[in-house]
Amino acid sequence: MNKIDVVLGLQWGDEGKGKIADFLTPQYHIIARFQGGPNAGHSLKFNGQTHVLNTIPSGIFHSESTNIIGNGVVVDPVRIREEILRVEAAGANVKGNLVFSRKAHIILPTHRLLDAASEHAKGEAKIGSTLRGIGPTYRDKIGRNGLRIGDIYTDNFKERYYNIQKEHLKWVEFLGYNDFDIQALDNAFFEACEFLKAYKTADTEYLLNHAVGQSKILAEGAQGSMLDIDFGSYPFVTSSNTISGGVCNGLGIAPQHIGNVFGIFKAYCTRVGSGPFPTELLDETGESLRQKGNEFGATTGRPRRCGWLDLVALKYAIMLSGVNRLIMMKSDVLSGFEEIKVCTAYKVNGEITEEVPYDLCNASVEPVYQTFKGWSADLSVCRKQAELPSEFAAYVQFLEQTLNMPIHIISVGPDREQTIID
Ligand code: GDP
Ligand code: IMO
Ligand code: MG
Repeated sequence: MNKIDVVLGLQWGDEGKGKIADFLTPQYHIIARFQGGPNAGHSLKFNGQTHVLNTIPSGIFHSESTNIIGNGVVVDPVRIREEILRVEAAGANVKGNLVFSRKAHIILPTHRLLDAASEHAKGEAKIGSTLRGIGPTYRDKIGRNGLRIGDIYTDNFKERYYNIQKEHLKWVEFLGYNDFDIQALDNAFFEACEFLKAYKTADTEYLLNHAVGQSKILAEGAQGSMLDIDFGSYPFVTSSNTISGGVCNGLGIAPQHIGNVFGIFKAYCTRVGSGPFPTELLDETGESLRQKGNEFGATTGRPRRCGWLDLVALKYAIMLSGVNRLIMMKSDVLSGFEEIKVCTAYKVNGEITEEVPYDLCNASVEPVYQTFKGWSADLSVCRKQAELPSEFAAYVQFLEQTLNMPIHIISVGPDREQTIID
């Protein structure tokens, strides 16, 4: 019996989920996003070309796969229109292979304004959001005020839109934000909604439940486990459940249908935006990781904060999602460092712990490191385990022992080809 496999990020996002979802797609019939929205930027590289996807699942470039935007995702019509046009220009069959859940919530232009106004008002305490309107849209969903994709087809869509907008604008004004042209925003929004009518929508929970057992389904996560609304470094998180639990309510799938959970992590750590990052390196080594790893946001272009691998956070993420297959990304980036460090525990207010503390944002957290000898060989040209240098093999062996699980795939570059399977 085919189950639904899951691929998700175990750190603070940008682990390489897009590359791996695209790499795994030939084994699946359906790829489904279950949460997040255009805050995500998933990069895929093949035939010498890089593509960045924000809301569309990473299986879209495979003509045989059906790609589902699940009910747990938030969709910005204006942004997804641009994304669809970009992906179509690159040759994908979006009209044939993409299906929107009717129950996916819509990001309104004023959700984006609220995001910007709220971040502006927070000043130094800002979350460092992607300004895509994610938080305000999920807030309206939970507050039972949202509009959904299925509403685009209803007669009173505009009326409901303007009622919600009226409330939003009061807040935007209250927060002293006035840098926008509402008429232009409305026009772009309604044009994009019309455009979307040419694409498929469905009650995708039925589509998925009818397919389960017969078709192979891959659920693709966005963001990372440490950005999860419940278990991440709150409040410096995103507004959805990024862990495997999010698959059930983000797609309408019962827990017994979940099969393998592929957990993706980088060989080091990165984070964009504000919030705690225990292993962050603010020195030359951090800068070197950023430059070698090209750690600049796929969506916003922001420089990513960089640091050593954090096994305390990684073990926590593995536990929360029931990960049974590990995938290590960007191993090539670690070549050339004299020594490599791995955080095995935290010293929190003077006490050693291997657990993520509740008050991660306030406590004094000092990483406890184990140091490994570096290597100089270029991993990006390796295609087999046997070609990897012995120092790297020792690093992998230590991780597998500590995490109590084999590393199933090792990625040594952004291209589909630069992937080593056990
Ligand atoms: P996602 O959000 O998890 O899909 O990850 P992003 O696409 O935002 O960021 C990952 C970045 O690393 C992208 O630029 C990828 O092209 C790149 N990448 C993925 N895997 C590897 C790898 O193994 N080595 C290197 N050097 N780059 C990689
Ligand atoms: P992918 O799927 C990395 C971060 C933002 C900010 C916080 C909240 O590409 O891994 P939001 O806009 O969601 O309200 O921002 O979460 N963030 C991400 N960081 N990768 C992402 O997505 C992210 N999506 C959101 O930087 O700190
Ligand atoms: Mg990304």
